[in-house]
Amino acid sequence: MKVCVIGTGYVGLVGSAIFADWGNEVIGVDIDDSKIKKIEAGKMPIYEPGLGEIVTENIKDGRLSFTTSLVKGLKGAELVFICVGTPQDDKTGAANLSHVWDVAKEIGENIKDYKVVVTKSTVPVGTNERIKRIVGKHTAKGVDFDVASNPEFLREGSSVEDMRNPDRVVIGSDSKKALEKLRKIYDHLNTIIVETDLRSAEMIKYASNSFLATKISFINEMAQICERAGADVSQVAYGMGLDRRVGKYFLRAGIGYGGSCFPKDVAALYKTSTDQAYDFKLLRSVMEVNENQRAYYVDKITDYFGKNLTGKKIACLGLAFKSDTDDARESVAIKIIRTLRGLGAKICAYDPKAMKNAQEILGDSNITYTENAYDAMKGADALCLLTEWSQFGELDLGRVEKSMVAKVIFDGRNLLDKEEAEKAGFAYFAIGKRASGVDYTRFEEGSSAILESANGS
Ligand code: UDX
Repeated sequence: MKVCVIGTGYVGLVGSAIFADWGNEVIGVDIDDSKIKKIEAGKMPIYEPGLGEIVTENIKDGRLSFTTSLVKGLKGAELVFICVGTPQDDKTGAANLSHVWDVAKEIGENIKDYKVVVTKSTVPVGTNERIKRIVGKHTAKGVDFDVASNPEFLREGSSVEDMRNPDRVVIGSDSKKALEKLRKIYDHLNTIIVETDLRSAEMIKYASNSFLATKISFINEMAQICERAGADVSQVAYGMGLDRRVGKYFLRAGIGYGGSCFPKDVAALYKTSTDQAYDFKLLRSVMEVNENQRAYYVDKITDYFGKNLTGKKIACLGLAFKSDTDDARESVAIKIIRTLRGLGAKICAYDPKAMKNAQEILGDSNITYTENAYDAMKGADALCLLTEWSQFGELDLGRVEKSMVAKVIFDGRNLLDKEEAEKAGFAYFAIGKRASGVDYTRFEEGSSAILESANGS
Protein backbone atom coordinates (compact mmCIF):
# COMPACT_ATOMS: atom_id res chain seq x y z
CA MET A 1 0.00 0.00 0.00
CA LYS A 2 1.18 3.56 -0.69
CA VAL A 3 1.39 5.61 2.48
CA CYS A 4 2.23 9.22 3.30
CA VAL A 5 3.40 10.09 6.84
CA ILE A 6 3.48 13.76 7.80
CA GLY A 7 5.98 14.60 10.55
CA THR A 8 9.26 12.83 11.35
CA GLY A 9 9.24 13.05 15.14
CA TYR A 10 9.07 9.93 17.34
CA VAL A 11 5.70 8.80 16.07
CA GLY A 12 6.19 9.75 12.42
CA LEU A 13 9.71 8.42 11.99
CA VAL A 14 9.12 5.12 13.75
CA GLY A 15 5.75 4.81 12.00
CA SER A 16 7.14 5.39 8.51
CA ALA A 17 10.09 3.06 9.08
CA ILE A 18 7.94 0.19 10.33
CA PHE A 19 5.18 0.68 7.73
CA ALA A 20 7.92 0.44 5.07
CA ASP A 21 9.42 -2.59 6.78
CA TRP A 22 6.01 -4.26 6.51
CA GLY A 23 6.32 -3.93 2.72
CA ASN A 24 4.45 -0.67 2.09
CA GLU A 25 5.70 2.14 -0.10
CA VAL A 26 6.15 5.00 2.36
CA ILE A 27 7.02 8.64 1.91
CA GLY A 28 7.75 10.74 5.01
CA VAL A 29 7.13 14.48 4.84
CA ASP A 30 8.68 17.13 7.06
CA ILE A 31 9.17 20.88 6.71
CA ASP A 32 12.67 20.59 8.20
CA ASP A 33 14.99 19.97 5.26
CA SER A 34 18.15 19.50 7.35
CA LYS A 35 16.43 16.86 9.48
CA ILE A 36 15.40 14.95 6.37
CA LYS A 37 18.91 15.09 4.95
CA LYS A 38 20.28 13.68 8.21
CA ILE A 39 17.75 10.85 8.25
CA GLU A 40 18.56 10.02 4.62
CA ALA A 41 22.23 9.88 5.55
CA GLY A 42 21.38 7.33 8.26
CA LYS A 43 21.74 9.79 11.20
CA MET A 44 18.68 9.45 13.41
CA PRO A 45 17.50 12.65 15.15
CA ILE A 46 16.52 10.55 18.19
CA TYR A 47 18.11 7.63 20.03
CA GLU A 48 15.78 4.70 19.51
CA PRO A 49 17.15 1.14 19.61
CA GLY A 50 16.99 -0.54 16.17
CA LEU A 51 15.51 2.44 14.32
CA GLY A 52 18.58 3.54 12.34
CA GLU A 53 19.07 0.10 10.80
CA ILE A 54 15.42 -0.22 9.75
CA VAL A 55 15.37 3.26 8.18
CA THR A 56 18.62 2.71 6.27
CA GLU A 57 17.63 -0.73 5.02
CA ASN A 58 14.21 0.40 3.79
CA ILE A 59 15.62 3.47 2.06
CA LYS A 60 18.13 1.20 0.34
CA ASP A 61 15.40 -1.22 -0.72
CA GLY A 62 13.39 1.65 -2.19
CA ARG A 63 10.35 1.33 0.08
CA LEU A 64 11.07 4.43 2.20
CA SER A 65 11.82 7.98 1.13
CA PHE A 66 11.52 11.47 2.54
CA THR A 67 10.57 14.85 1.15
CA THR A 68 9.72 18.39 2.20
CA SER A 69 7.00 18.53 -0.46
CA LEU A 70 3.54 17.55 0.74
CA VAL A 71 2.33 17.50 -2.89
CA LYS A 72 4.91 14.84 -3.67
CA GLY A 73 4.06 12.95 -0.47
CA LEU A 74 0.35 12.87 -1.22
CA LYS A 75 0.71 11.64 -4.81
CA GLY A 76 -0.83 8.19 -5.05
CA ALA A 77 -1.01 7.68 -1.26
CA GLU A 78 -4.10 5.85 0.02
CA LEU A 79 -3.44 6.53 3.69
CA VAL A 80 -2.16 9.91 4.92
CA PHE A 81 -0.97 9.84 8.55
CA ILE A 82 -0.78 13.09 10.51
CA CYS A 83 2.07 12.70 13.03
CA VAL A 84 2.88 16.29 13.96
CA GLY A 85 3.52 17.52 17.51
CA THR A 86 0.70 18.62 19.85
CA PRO A 87 2.65 20.36 22.62
CA GLN A 88 1.05 21.59 25.82
CA ASP A 89 -0.19 25.15 25.93
CA ASP A 90 1.58 26.71 28.95
CA LYS A 91 -1.40 28.84 29.95
CA THR A 92 -4.38 26.48 29.64
CA GLY A 93 -2.79 23.01 29.85
CA ALA A 94 -4.69 22.10 26.65
CA ALA A 95 -2.96 20.52 23.65
CA ASN A 96 -1.77 23.11 21.14
CA LEU A 97 -3.21 21.94 17.82
CA SER A 98 -1.92 24.65 15.48
CA HIS A 99 0.34 22.23 13.56
CA VAL A 100 -2.56 19.82 13.09
CA TRP A 101 -4.84 22.56 11.69
CA ASP A 102 -2.09 23.77 9.31
CA VAL A 103 -1.50 20.26 7.99
CA ALA A 104 -5.25 19.60 7.59
CA LYS A 105 -5.58 22.76 5.48
CA GLU A 106 -2.61 21.81 3.33
CA ILE A 107 -3.92 18.29 2.81
CA GLY A 108 -7.28 19.73 1.74
CA GLU A 109 -5.63 22.06 -0.73
CA ASN A 110 -3.50 19.37 -2.31
CA ILE A 111 -5.44 16.11 -2.54
CA LYS A 112 -6.62 15.14 -5.99
CA ASP A 113 -8.18 11.72 -5.32
CA TYR A 114 -9.69 9.70 -2.46
CA LYS A 115 -7.56 9.54 0.70
CA VAL A 116 -8.04 8.37 4.24
CA VAL A 117 -6.61 11.09 6.48
CA VAL A 118 -5.48 9.35 9.68
CA THR A 119 -4.51 11.16 12.86
CA LYS A 120 -1.78 9.48 14.88
CA SER A 121 -0.84 12.58 16.86
CA THR A 122 -2.41 12.63 20.32
CA VAL A 123 -5.39 14.93 19.97
CA PRO A 124 -8.31 15.77 22.27
CA VAL A 125 -11.78 14.46 21.69
CA GLY A 126 -13.52 16.19 18.78
CA THR A 127 -10.30 17.09 16.93
CA ASN A 128 -10.80 14.65 14.06
CA GLU A 129 -14.25 16.08 13.39
CA ARG A 130 -12.66 19.50 13.06
CA ILE A 131 -9.91 18.06 10.82
CA LYS A 132 -12.69 16.71 8.60
CA ARG A 133 -14.29 20.16 8.39
CA ILE A 134 -10.95 21.88 7.61
CA VAL A 135 -9.88 19.35 4.97
CA GLY A 136 -13.37 19.50 3.42
CA LYS A 137 -13.36 23.30 3.31
CA HIS A 138 -10.18 23.34 1.22
CA THR A 139 -10.76 20.31 -1.01
CA ALA A 140 -11.57 20.78 -4.69
CA LYS A 141 -15.11 19.85 -5.77
CA GLY A 142 -15.62 16.17 -6.47
CA VAL A 143 -12.57 14.97 -4.47
CA ASP A 144 -13.60 12.54 -1.76
CA PHE A 145 -11.82 11.75 1.52
CA ASP A 146 -12.46 10.22 4.95
CA VAL A 147 -10.98 10.87 8.36
CA ALA A 148 -9.83 8.26 10.89
CA SER A 149 -8.15 8.23 14.28
CA ASN A 150 -5.34 5.76 14.97
CA PRO A 151 -3.64 6.74 18.25
CA GLU A 152 -0.18 5.37 18.97
CA PHE A 153 0.92 3.81 22.24
CA LEU A 154 4.67 3.71 21.61
CA ARG A 155 7.05 4.09 24.53
CA GLU A 156 10.27 5.94 23.87
CA GLY A 157 13.18 3.55 24.04
CA SER A 158 11.11 0.58 22.90
CA SER A 159 8.96 2.10 20.17
CA VAL A 160 10.21 -0.21 17.41
CA GLU A 161 9.32 -3.25 19.46
CA ASP A 162 6.02 -1.68 20.59
CA MET A 163 4.95 -0.98 17.00
CA ARG A 164 5.82 -4.47 15.86
CA ASN A 165 4.10 -6.17 18.80
CA PRO A 166 1.32 -3.89 20.03
CA ASP A 167 -1.05 -4.94 22.83
CA ARG A 168 -3.81 -3.62 20.55
CA VAL A 169 -4.36 -1.34 17.58
CA VAL A 170 -7.12 1.25 17.86
CA ILE A 171 -8.80 2.56 14.74
CA GLY A 172 -11.77 4.91 14.84
CA SER A 173 -13.86 6.38 12.03
CA ASP A 174 -17.43 7.02 10.96
CA SER A 175 -16.60 5.56 7.52
CA LYS A 176 -16.59 1.79 6.89
CA LYS A 177 -14.44 2.31 3.79
CA ALA A 178 -11.79 4.17 5.83
CA LEU A 179 -11.77 1.50 8.54
CA GLU A 180 -11.33 -1.23 5.94
CA LYS A 181 -8.37 0.52 4.31
CA LEU A 182 -6.73 1.29 7.64
CA ARG A 183 -7.26 -2.24 8.92
CA LYS A 184 -5.31 -3.58 5.92
CA ILE A 185 -2.03 -2.07 7.07
CA TYR A 186 -2.30 -3.77 10.49
CA ASP A 187 -4.14 -6.99 9.58
CA HIS A 188 -1.00 -9.15 9.54
CA LEU A 189 -0.25 -8.38 13.21
CA ASN A 190 -1.06 -10.92 15.86
CA THR A 191 -3.14 -8.53 17.94
CA ILE A 192 -6.66 -7.24 18.52
CA ILE A 193 -7.77 -4.40 16.26
CA VAL A 194 -10.28 -2.28 18.16
CA GLU A 195 -12.73 -0.51 15.83
CA THR A 196 -14.50 2.49 17.33
CA ASP A 197 -16.11 5.78 16.45
CA LEU A 198 -13.80 8.79 16.10
CA ARG A 199 -14.36 10.25 19.56
CA SER A 200 -13.84 6.97 21.41
CA ALA A 201 -10.54 6.34 19.61
CA GLU A 202 -9.32 9.79 20.61
CA MET A 203 -10.40 9.19 24.20
CA ILE A 204 -8.78 5.74 24.48
CA LYS A 205 -5.33 7.31 24.09
CA TYR A 206 -5.88 9.90 26.83
CA ALA A 207 -7.58 7.38 29.11
CA SER A 208 -4.67 4.93 28.74
CA ASN A 209 -1.93 7.44 29.47
CA SER A 210 -3.86 9.07 32.29
CA PHE A 211 -4.59 5.71 33.89
CA LEU A 212 -0.91 4.75 33.77
CA ALA A 213 0.00 8.11 35.30
CA THR A 214 -2.62 7.42 37.97
CA LYS A 215 -0.94 4.11 38.79
CA ILE A 216 2.38 5.92 39.20
CA SER A 217 0.91 8.62 41.43
CA PHE A 218 -0.89 5.95 43.45
CA ILE A 219 2.31 4.04 44.14
CA ASN A 220 4.14 7.29 44.86
CA GLU A 221 1.59 8.17 47.53
CA MET A 222 1.84 4.60 48.82
CA ALA A 223 5.58 5.23 49.07
CA GLN A 224 5.01 8.15 51.42
CA ILE A 225 2.75 6.05 53.66
CA CYS A 226 5.05 3.02 53.51
CA GLU A 227 8.02 5.07 54.63
CA ARG A 228 6.11 6.59 57.54
CA ALA A 229 4.54 3.29 58.57
CA GLY A 230 7.70 1.21 58.22
CA ALA A 231 6.68 -0.82 55.14
CA ASP A 232 8.75 -1.21 51.95
CA VAL A 233 6.98 0.13 48.84
CA SER A 234 8.90 -2.15 46.44
CA GLN A 235 7.67 -5.21 48.32
CA VAL A 236 4.16 -3.79 48.49
CA ALA A 237 4.14 -3.08 44.71
CA TYR A 238 5.37 -6.60 43.98
CA GLY A 239 2.72 -8.16 46.21
CA MET A 240 -0.04 -6.02 44.71
CA GLY A 241 1.09 -6.41 41.11
CA LEU A 242 0.84 -10.19 41.11
CA ASP A 243 -2.93 -9.78 41.25
CA ARG A 244 -3.80 -9.78 37.54
CA ARG A 245 -6.60 -7.29 38.13
CA VAL A 246 -4.01 -4.83 39.44
CA GLY A 247 -1.18 -5.68 37.02
CA LYS A 248 2.51 -5.44 37.80
CA TYR A 249 3.43 -2.61 35.42
CA PHE A 250 3.77 1.07 36.25
CA LEU A 251 4.01 0.49 39.96
CA ARG A 252 7.61 1.64 40.37
CA ALA A 253 7.72 4.38 42.97
CA GLY A 254 10.17 7.17 42.25
CA ILE A 255 10.53 10.89 41.76
CA GLY A 256 7.39 11.22 39.62
CA TYR A 257 6.59 10.77 35.95
CA GLY A 258 7.99 13.04 33.25
CA GLY A 259 8.53 13.04 29.49
CA SER A 260 6.80 14.54 26.52
CA CYS A 261 3.58 12.51 26.95
CA PHE A 262 2.29 11.85 30.46
CA PRO A 263 2.47 15.41 31.89
CA LYS A 264 0.91 16.91 28.76
CA ASP A 265 -1.72 14.21 28.22
CA VAL A 266 -2.94 14.18 31.82
CA ALA A 267 -3.20 17.98 31.78
CA ALA A 268 -5.03 17.88 28.43
CA LEU A 269 -7.57 15.30 29.63
CA TYR A 270 -8.16 17.39 32.74
CA LYS A 271 -8.72 20.40 30.48
CA THR A 272 -11.18 18.35 28.39
CA SER A 273 -13.09 17.50 31.57
CA THR A 274 -13.41 21.14 32.62
CA ASP A 275 -14.39 22.08 29.04
CA GLN A 276 -17.26 19.63 29.49
CA ALA A 277 -18.17 21.29 32.82
CA TYR A 278 -16.78 18.37 34.81
CA ASP A 279 -14.04 18.52 37.42
CA PHE A 280 -12.01 15.29 37.03
CA LYS A 281 -10.88 15.32 40.67
CA LEU A 282 -8.82 12.16 40.48
CA LEU A 283 -6.68 13.56 37.65
CA ARG A 284 -6.22 16.81 39.52
CA SER A 285 -4.76 14.79 42.40
CA VAL A 286 -2.61 12.70 40.04
CA MET A 287 -0.93 15.89 38.83
CA GLU A 288 -0.59 17.33 42.33
CA VAL A 289 0.91 14.12 43.72
CA ASN A 290 3.39 14.06 40.82
CA GLU A 291 4.57 17.59 41.65
CA ASN A 292 4.82 16.78 45.36
CA GLN A 293 6.90 13.69 44.76
CA ARG A 294 9.79 15.85 43.62
CA ALA A 295 9.61 17.93 46.77
CA TYR A 296 9.48 14.75 48.87
CA TYR A 297 12.76 13.68 47.29
CA VAL A 298 14.50 17.06 47.61
CA ASP A 299 13.38 17.26 51.27
CA LYS A 300 15.40 14.12 51.97
CA ILE A 301 18.50 15.94 50.77
CA THR A 302 17.82 19.18 52.63
CA ASP A 303 16.82 17.28 55.79
CA TYR A 304 20.28 15.73 55.67
CA PHE A 305 22.42 18.72 54.70
CA GLY A 306 20.22 21.70 55.63
CA LYS A 307 18.60 24.08 53.15
CA ASN A 308 21.83 25.76 52.10
CA LEU A 309 23.79 23.48 49.79
CA THR A 310 26.53 26.01 49.00
CA GLY A 311 29.88 24.24 48.75
CA LYS A 312 28.30 20.81 48.43
CA LYS A 313 29.20 18.78 45.41
CA ILE A 314 26.36 16.50 44.33
CA ALA A 315 26.82 13.72 41.79
CA CYS A 316 23.63 13.29 39.74
CA LEU A 317 23.29 10.10 37.72
CA GLY A 318 20.52 10.29 35.14
CA LEU A 319 19.28 13.22 33.07
CA ALA A 320 16.84 11.55 30.66
CA PHE A 321 13.17 11.43 31.70
CA LYS A 322 13.48 7.65 31.85
CA SER A 323 15.99 4.98 30.87
CA ASP A 324 16.81 3.85 27.30
CA THR A 325 16.21 7.24 25.73
CA ASP A 326 18.19 10.43 25.07
CA ASP A 327 15.05 12.52 25.64
CA ALA A 328 15.35 15.02 28.49
CA ARG A 329 12.13 16.93 27.81
CA GLU A 330 10.05 17.35 30.98
CA SER A 331 12.58 15.21 32.80
CA VAL A 332 12.07 15.17 36.57
CA ALA A 333 15.84 14.66 36.92
CA ILE A 334 16.42 18.02 35.25
CA LYS A 335 13.89 19.74 37.51
CA ILE A 336 15.55 18.29 40.61
CA ILE A 337 19.00 19.36 39.41
CA ARG A 338 17.67 22.90 38.89
CA THR A 339 16.36 22.94 42.47
CA LEU A 340 19.62 21.62 43.94
CA ARG A 341 21.61 24.14 41.92
CA GLY A 342 19.27 26.87 43.14
CA LEU A 343 20.09 25.85 46.71
CA GLY A 344 23.78 26.41 45.99
CA ALA A 345 24.99 22.90 45.13
CA LYS A 346 27.65 22.21 42.52
CA ILE A 347 26.38 19.44 40.24
CA CYS A 348 28.39 16.73 38.51
CA ALA A 349 26.11 14.98 36.07
CA TYR A 350 26.20 11.91 33.88
CA ASP A 351 23.69 10.12 31.66
CA PRO A 352 24.45 7.31 29.20
CA LYS A 353 22.51 8.95 26.32
CA ALA A 354 20.92 12.28 27.27
CA MET A 355 24.01 14.44 27.98
CA LYS A 356 23.70 16.63 24.90
CA ASN A 357 19.96 17.18 25.18
CA ALA A 358 20.20 17.88 28.92
CA GLN A 359 23.08 20.32 28.44
CA GLU A 360 20.95 22.27 25.97
CA ILE A 361 18.24 22.59 28.63
CA LEU A 362 20.40 23.12 31.74
CA GLY A 363 23.41 24.99 30.35
CA ASP A 364 26.80 24.87 32.07
CA SER A 365 26.40 27.09 35.09
CA ASN A 366 27.45 25.17 38.22
CA ILE A 367 27.26 21.87 36.34
CA THR A 368 30.09 19.65 35.21
CA TYR A 369 29.19 16.92 32.72
CA THR A 370 31.39 13.85 33.06
CA GLU A 371 32.26 11.07 30.66
CA ASN A 372 31.18 8.25 32.90
CA ALA A 373 29.26 7.61 36.11
CA TYR A 374 32.30 7.13 38.33
CA ASP A 375 33.89 10.43 37.27
CA ALA A 376 30.76 12.26 38.42
CA MET A 377 31.21 10.85 41.91
CA LYS A 378 34.84 11.89 42.43
CA GLY A 379 35.03 14.11 45.52
CA ALA A 380 31.21 14.27 45.81
CA ASP A 381 29.33 14.87 49.05
CA ALA A 382 26.26 13.00 47.89
CA LEU A 383 25.08 10.73 45.10
CA CYS A 384 21.61 11.25 43.60
CA LEU A 385 20.15 8.52 41.38
CA LEU A 386 17.59 10.20 39.16
CA THR A 387 16.92 8.01 36.09
CA GLU A 388 16.19 4.29 36.15
CA TRP A 389 19.07 3.20 33.85
CA SER A 390 19.81 -0.41 34.81
CA GLN A 391 23.58 0.26 34.83
CA PHE A 392 23.10 2.60 37.82
CA GLY A 393 21.69 -0.32 39.76
CA GLU A 394 24.89 -2.24 39.11
CA LEU A 395 27.37 0.34 40.43
CA ASP A 396 30.43 -1.02 42.20
CA LEU A 397 29.65 0.46 45.61
CA GLY A 398 33.18 -0.21 46.87
CA ARG A 399 34.54 1.98 44.07
CA VAL A 400 31.87 4.61 44.67
CA GLU A 401 32.69 4.70 48.38
CA LYS A 402 36.38 5.30 47.67
CA SER A 403 35.77 8.22 45.32
CA MET A 404 33.18 10.15 47.35
CA VAL A 405 33.97 12.53 50.23
CA ALA A 406 30.79 12.09 52.23
CA LYS A 407 29.01 8.77 52.02
CA VAL A 408 25.38 9.36 51.30
CA ILE A 409 23.09 8.14 48.53
CA PHE A 410 19.65 9.51 47.65
CA ASP A 411 18.16 6.80 45.47
CA GLY A 412 15.24 8.39 43.63
CA ARG A 413 14.44 5.23 41.66
CA ASN A 414 14.99 2.47 44.25
CA LEU A 415 17.77 0.98 42.15
CA LEU A 416 20.08 -0.14 44.93
CA ASP A 417 19.71 -2.58 47.77
CA LYS A 418 19.49 -0.80 51.13
CA GLU A 419 21.42 -3.46 53.04
CA GLU A 420 24.22 -3.56 50.48
CA ALA A 421 24.50 0.23 50.38
CA GLU A 422 24.66 0.41 54.17
CA LYS A 423 27.15 -2.45 54.30
CA ALA A 424 29.35 -0.49 51.89
CA GLY A 425 29.33 2.39 54.39
CA PHE A 426 26.65 4.68 52.97
CA ALA A 427 23.79 6.52 54.59
CA TYR A 428 21.05 5.39 52.19
CA PHE A 429 17.79 7.17 51.45
CA ALA A 430 15.30 5.61 49.04
CA ILE A 431 11.68 6.15 48.06
CA GLY A 432 9.03 4.54 50.24
CA LYS A 433 11.42 2.78 52.60
CA ARG A 434 12.60 3.83 56.03
CA ALA A 435 16.14 5.13 56.24
CA SER A 436 18.32 4.12 59.18
CA GLY A 437 18.87 6.81 61.80
CA VAL A 438 15.85 8.96 60.89
CA ASP A 439 13.34 9.83 63.60
CA TYR A 440 9.95 8.83 62.19
CA THR A 441 8.01 9.71 65.34
CA ARG A 442 7.99 13.32 64.06
CA PHE A 443 5.28 12.28 61.58
CA GLU A 444 2.97 11.16 64.39
CA GLU A 445 2.94 14.70 65.80
CA GLY A 446 1.35 15.98 62.57
CA SER A 447 -1.38 13.35 62.45
CA SER A 448 -4.10 15.27 64.29
CA ALA A 449 -3.59 18.33 62.03
CA ILE A 450 -3.89 16.15 58.92
CA LEU A 451 -7.06 14.51 60.25
CA GLU A 452 -8.57 17.89 60.98
CA SER A 453 -7.82 19.18 57.51
CA ALA A 454 -9.07 15.95 55.89
CA ASN A 455 -12.35 16.36 57.81
CA GLY A 456 -12.58 19.90 56.51
CA SER A 457 -12.36 21.52 59.97
C1 UDX B 1 4.20 6.91 27.45
C2 UDX B 1 3.23 5.74 27.28
O1 UDX B 1 3.73 4.63 28.03
C3 UDX B 1 3.07 5.37 25.81
O2 UDX B 1 2.11 4.33 25.65
C4 UDX B 1 2.62 6.61 25.04
O3 UDX B 1 2.48 6.36 23.68
C5 UDX B 1 3.59 7.76 25.25
O4 UDX B 1 3.73 8.01 26.67
P1 UDX B 1 6.85 7.26 27.42
O5 UDX B 1 6.56 8.72 27.63
O6 UDX B 1 7.85 6.86 26.41
O7 UDX B 1 5.48 6.50 27.02
O8 UDX B 1 7.35 6.69 28.81
P2 UDX B 1 6.87 5.65 29.92
O9 UDX B 1 7.69 4.43 29.84
O10 UDX B 1 5.41 5.47 29.90
O11 UDX B 1 7.29 6.46 31.26
C6 UDX B 1 6.75 7.75 31.54
C7 UDX B 1 7.30 8.30 32.84
O12 UDX B 1 6.82 7.58 33.96
C8 UDX B 1 8.83 8.26 32.95
O13 UDX B 1 9.28 9.47 33.56
C9 UDX B 1 9.11 7.09 33.87
O14 UDX B 1 10.31 7.22 34.60
C10 UDX B 1 7.90 7.16 34.81
N1 UDX B 1 7.53 5.87 35.42
C11 UDX B 1 7.10 4.84 34.63
C12 UDX B 1 7.57 5.73 36.80
O15 UDX B 1 7.93 6.66 37.54
N2 UDX B 1 7.16 4.53 37.35
C13 UDX B 1 6.72 3.49 36.59
O16 UDX B 1 6.38 2.45 37.17
C14 UDX B 1 6.70 3.65 35.19
